[in-house]
Amino acid sequence: MNDEIKNNGRKIKLAPSILSADFGRLNEEIASVEEFVDLIHVDVMDGHFVPNITLGAPVVKFIKSTLPLDVHLMIENPDKFVKDFAEAGAKRIVVHKEACGENLRSVLMMIRSFGCECGVSIKPATPVEDIKNVLDLADEVLVMTVEPGFGGQSFMEDMVPKIRELRSLGYEGDIGVDGGINDKTAPVCIDAGANLLISGSYFFKAADKKEAAQKIKGV
Ligand code: DX5
Ligand code: ZN
Repeated sequence: MNDEIKNNGRKIKLAPSILSADFGRLNEEIASVEEFVDLIHVDVMDGHFVPNITLGAPVVKFIKSTLPLDVHLMIENPDKFVKDFAEAGAKRIVVHKEACGENLRSVLMMIRSFGCECGVSIKPATPVEDIKNVLDLADEVLVMTVEPGFGGQSFMEDMVPKIRELRSLGYEGDIGVDGGINDKTAPVCIDAGANLLISGSYFFKAADKKEAAQKIKGV
């Protein structure tokens, strides 16, 4: 895929969420899509921060990809696990504002100290205002466009103003959107200023994943 695809000078990137992949043949599934996606999105859930459990660092260690692993931690006390995920191969670690509270800045710095890129995610009820003080540090802001916890939910269009707000504040890092991203909702997010599309069910259910990737990226 053309690496020069840009929107306001930003490369549009696609990160498939492996939550919707076949875990029985995960590395094969990943290898088969690497050519036309940009990162691999790994959803980590603990059954506390969200009402679902997925996988931990020992499993991430066995994920093989030529692409960077983008690890989305939907867990309580993420600071206790950052080191494990960094050592398991994460290139980027994204934590939730709601799980870090006032320690958000120090958790982001901890992620950096392990040589990873750092990102912050906000649930639908959390305003951009709550993360303004870390925008100088975060490589990514991940705007949740569903309540985190499960794949296959419907996109919340009322989250789109958060993307515009972040860009109007001058934020130049990656703005990711996660939840219900497909060929219809991705363009809305890109138009608002998002450049990192996370897609689980739409992408992995597509008969032609290369075509699905092109539709999401708008090429
Ligand atoms: C939801 C996860 C998402 C999810 C996206 O809590 O963070 O990454 O897997 O799945 P879809 O694209 O099916 O909404
Ligand atoms: Zn996610």
